[in-house]
Amino acid sequence: MNLSFENLKKSYQLGDKSYLALKGISTTFSEPGLVSLMGPSGSGKSTLLHCLGLIDSADEGIIHFEGKRIDNLSDDQKSKFRLVSFGFVFQSYHLIPTLSVIENVALPAVYKSRNLKKSYEMADSLLQRVGLEEFKKRRINQLSGGQRQRVAIARALVNQPKIIFADEPTANLDSKTSEAVLDMFQDIIKEQKIMALISTHDNAVAKRSDHIISMLDGQLEGMV
Ligand SMILES: Nc1ncnc2c1ncn2[C@@H]1O[C@H](COP(=O)(O)OP(=O)(O)OP(=O)(O)O)[C@@H](O)[C@H]1O
Ligand SMILES: [Mg+2]
Repeated sequence: MNLSFENLKKSYQLGDKSYLALKGISTTFSEPGLVSLMGPSGSGKSTLLHCLGLIDSADEGIIHFEGKRIDNLSDDQKSKFRLVSFGFVFQSYHLIPTLSVIENVALPAVYKSRNLKKSYEMADSLLQRVGLEEFKKRRINQLSGGQRQRVAIARALVNQPKIIFADEPTANLDSKTSEAVLDMFQDIIKEQKIMALISTHDNAVAKRSDHIISMLDGQLEGMV
């Protein structure tokens, strides 16, 4: 696993002004494990996750994954790349409320493999893993916040990604549920040698991290 980026810059247009949310940042991640991205609200954490996950484009800078440049791919190539190599636990990547739990989890695998049977088998085993086997036929809007978060994690894992990007995955959970979700998440990423880059304000996440990156005002303050 190797993800690196150099001189990443991203600005947002606000009326006739532009706001620089990422101010030319660089770093390399070369090991699987849990990396927390911490920093005050507005420091650029979500923006960085969106750019690295190829959901949004940076204005400048280069991103390499496994030695291959990925920031300059076409939109189609980016979608394919996301499907094959990345998993997302994002608030903006909503679960689909009208589908059942298992349908939500299987969906990315169906897109990727076009094999319904295999996709549902994979989704089924992940739902067992996250402790939601008995809820698999329910619709998303019949689940609690913590259960939805576990569905989102199962869905992020279904295509066996190399990297998971998670934007404040424990933000809406009580501390006990959050610990349980994190235990499970940590076990899986360790087992499958995934790198998880998690933006968070939650010390329970930070405590479990292999590395912590601090962001301040669009800059990386360092990694420990
Ligand atoms: N779509 C947008 N249009 C304009 N400005 C934006 C947009 N998205 C983010 N910003 C600005 O860019 C900066 C970085 O935002 P970002 O969402 O990356 O912060 P964050 O570190 O994730 O904060 P939080 O901890 O509150 O989630 C902020 O000042 C924010 O107001
Ligand atoms: Mg954010």
